[in-house]
Amino acid sequence: MTQASNQQRDILITSALPYANGPIHLGHLLEYIQTDIWARYQKMRGHNCYYVCADDAHGTAIMLRAEREGITPEQLIKRISDEHQEDFAGFHIKFDNYYSTHSEENQYFSEYIYRQLQENGHIATRKITQFFDPEKEMFLADRFIKGTCPKCKAEDQYGDNCEACGATYTPAELINPRSAVSGATPVEKESEHYFFTLPDFHDFLANWTRSGALQPQVANKLAEWLDAGLQEWDISRDAPYFGFEIPDAPGKYFYVWLDAPIGYLASFKNLCNREGIDFEHFWKADSEAEVYHFIGKDIINFHALFWPSMLHDAGFRTPSAVWAHGFVTVNGKKMSKSRGTFIMARTYLDHLNPEYLRYYFAAKLTSGVDDMDLNLEDFAARVNSDLVGKVVNIASRSAGFITKRFDGKLGTVTESEKLQEFIDAGKEIEEFYEAREFGRAMRRIMELADVANQYVNDEQPWVIAKQEGQEANLQAICTNAINMFRLLMTYLGPVLPKTAEASELFLNSRLDWNNRAALLENHGIDKFKPLMSRVDMAQIEKMLEASKEELPAAQGDNAKKEDKEEPASDLEPLADEIEFPDFAKVDLRVVKIVKAEHVEGADKLLRLTLDVGHGERNVFAGIKSAYKPEDLEGRLTVMVANLKPRKMKFGVSEGMVLAAGPGGKDIFILSPDSGATPGMRVM
Ligand code: MSP
Ligand code: ZN
Repeated sequence: MTQASNQQRDILITSALPYANGPIHLGHLLEYIQTDIWARYQKMRGHNCYYVCADDAHGTAIMLRAEREGITPEQLIKRISDEHQEDFAGFHIKFDNYYSTHSEENQYFSEYIYRQLQENGHIATRKITQFFDPEKEMFLADRFIKGTCPKCKAEDQYGDNCEACGATYTPAELINPRSAVSGATPVEKESEHYFFTLPDFHDFLANWTRSGALQPQVANKLAEWLDAGLQEWDISRDAPYFGFEIPDAPGKYFYVWLDAPIGYLASFKNLCNREGIDFEHFWKADSEAEVYHFIGKDIINFHALFWPSMLHDAGFRTPSAVWAHGFVTVNGKKMSKSRGTFIMARTYLDHLNPEYLRYYFAAKLTSGVDDMDLNLEDFAARVNSDLVGKVVNIASRSAGFITKRFDGKLGTVTESEKLQEFIDAGKEIEEFYEAREFGRAMRRIMELADVANQYVNDEQPWVIAKQEGQEANLQAICTNAINMFRLLMTYLGPVLPKTAEASELFLNSRLDWNNRAALLENHGIDKFKPLMSRVDMAQIEKMLEASKEELPAAQGDNAKKEDKEEPASDLEPLADEIEFPDFAKVDLRVVKIVKAEHVEGADKLLRLTLDVGHGERNVFAGIKSAYKPEDLEGRLTVMVANLKPRKMKFGVSEGMVLAAGPGGKDIFILSPDSGATPGMRVM
C-alpha cells in the first residue's frame, strides 16, 4: 500500500474523537501526536491531506455531569471543547478541522446512514429488560448501578465487575443494588430497543478485515471474534439521553457510539463546506482517495466491525486502514493519580516543552499495538542526548563562525559525498514515516546526527578558526555542517514543528522535503539562537507534584472502563447515605479568612489563615485556580472544624474549607457576607 511514486495523493486522516467529559491527558496524546506526525509528514511531501477530529459530545455521562454542574449539556460540551482545543494547540497538533458530534452535519449523516441500514433490512427491534431508576426515571447502564459483590461480598461495586475480587456478573446478581445516580433501588423495566444486525455482515467483514486495512495482530484478533460469532448491536437508548433522537422513534436516541464515528464524516463535511473541498470524491463507494483512522486498541471493535459495515451498507467507501496503537504507561505502571502519573496535558505544558514529548513518543512508536512506557528518566535522558546534545549542537557549533567571520554568509559545500548520504537517507526515512515506524525513522536520523557530529569533531573548526590562512576552509566546514543540520531538521519537521520553524528563520530558508537536494550555498543565514534547552529532572518532579494536587478523586486510577459500553467518566455518584449520628459528628463553623497566601512550589494550593472565633487555623485549600489571595482576605466561609489535622507536603492542614463548583476558575467559596460571625455553628 505504500505509494512510492511522486503522484499527489488525496488523504483524509482522523484521530478518535475524545469524550467531552474530561480533560486530555498524556495517554490521549500518544494518539494525537502519532496522527499529527503522520499528517504533517504527508503534507510535507506535498500530498493533498486533511486531518480532522471532533469532540465526542453525546451520552449519559455528559448529560449527568452537566446536570450536576447546573448547566446545559451544550454549555458543558462547549467549555470542554475549548479546553481540548487549547490543549491540542499546546502540543502543536494541527487539525484542519476540529468539530463536535453534536452538530447539524452529524445529525444529518446519522439519520441518513440509519435510514439506509433500515431500508436494507439491517435494523431490528425487540424488547429488553433493564434496570431503571424510578426516582430519576431513567434506565441505568451497568456502570450506573452499584451494590455488593455476589462473590466476595465487597460493598460498593459497579454493576458489571468487582474491583475487589475481579468477578464479572450482571447487575441483577448484585446484592442490594442501588442507582449510582440517585441512590434509589432500581427496578426492572421493559423497553423496546433498536439493533443493528451485525451478523448479516459476517462475510463482508471476513473479507474486509483481511483486506490489508488492519494491522496483522488486529486482523487475527478479529478473525477470532468472527469465528466466535457476531451479535446484534444495541444502537438505541431511551430518554432522557443527550444525543440525537432516532427518526420515527419518539423517546429513543442513537447510542453515543452510533453517531461517534459518523462524526468523522461530519467534521470533514463541515471542512468541505467551508473550503470548497469535494466531499464525494473522498467518500463515494469507489473512491480513490485514502481514508485512515488512528485509534487506541480499546476501541477496535467499533472501528473494525460496526463502522465498516455501516459505511458499506449505506453506500460509502470503507476506510483504507484503521490503525490501532497501544496504551501509555508511566514508569512501567498504569497512569495513577496517587503516584502523580495521571498527567493532564495542561499540567505537562505548565512545566515542559511539548516537543520533548512529541520526540519521545516518536522515538518509541512502531506500527504495532504494543503499549508504550513513558519512563520519565529515560525521557529526559533521550531528549537531552538526542535533540539537545546531537541535533541542535551541530548548528550551535558552526553558526557562530559564519556570523562572526563571514558576515553571516555560507560558502560552498566541499563534502558533497557525505551530504549526498544525508540526502539519500531521506528515502529510507520516508519509508519509515509512511509505515508509521517512527522509532526507526528517529534512529536513522540520529545516526546521521552522529555522522555530522563526528565530522565537526574531526574538522575542529574551533582550532581552524585560530589558524592563519584557513578562512576558506573554516567557512567550508561550517557550510557543510549547517547543511547537514538543515537536512536533519527537514527530517525532524513532522515531529518538531516549532523547532523546524525556528530553524527556517535561522537558516533563512524553507525546509522543503522534496527539494532537499538543493543545498544552501553562498547564502545568508541569521544569527543562531538556542533552539532547545535541556530537560531538567526538577521540572519533571514539579510536574508530578502538580499532578498529585490535581483532579477530583473520582477521576482516579479507574477512570477508564474496558468495555466502553458507556463513556469513561469522572462521574461522581452521590456518596453513600450516612446515618444522622455520622452527620452530627461534623462540626461546621463559619470562619473568616484573615490571610491567604501563595504556597511556594504548589500549583493549586493556597494557604489560608482562618479565624475560627477562638483562635486561628492553618488550612491548605486547592482553590488557587479560582481566587487571587487578596480577593479572599476578609471573606467568610464555612469550614469543617473538627477534621483531624493532616500532614501535607507543604505543612499541616488543620481542617477543610467548603467550596462548590466544577473546578478550574469555577470554584466558589460559599457564603458571601451574611451577618454571620466567625465561630458560629452552621446548622
Ligand atoms: N469517544 C471515544 C472515541 C470515539 S471515536 C469515533 C473514546 N474517547 S476517549 O477520550 O476515551 O479516548 C480517545 C482516544 O484516546 C482513544 O483512541 C483511546 O484509545 C485513546 N486513549 C485514551 N487513553 C489512552 C492511554 N492511556 N494510552 C493511549 N491511548 C489512550 O474512546
Ligand atoms: Zn467481589
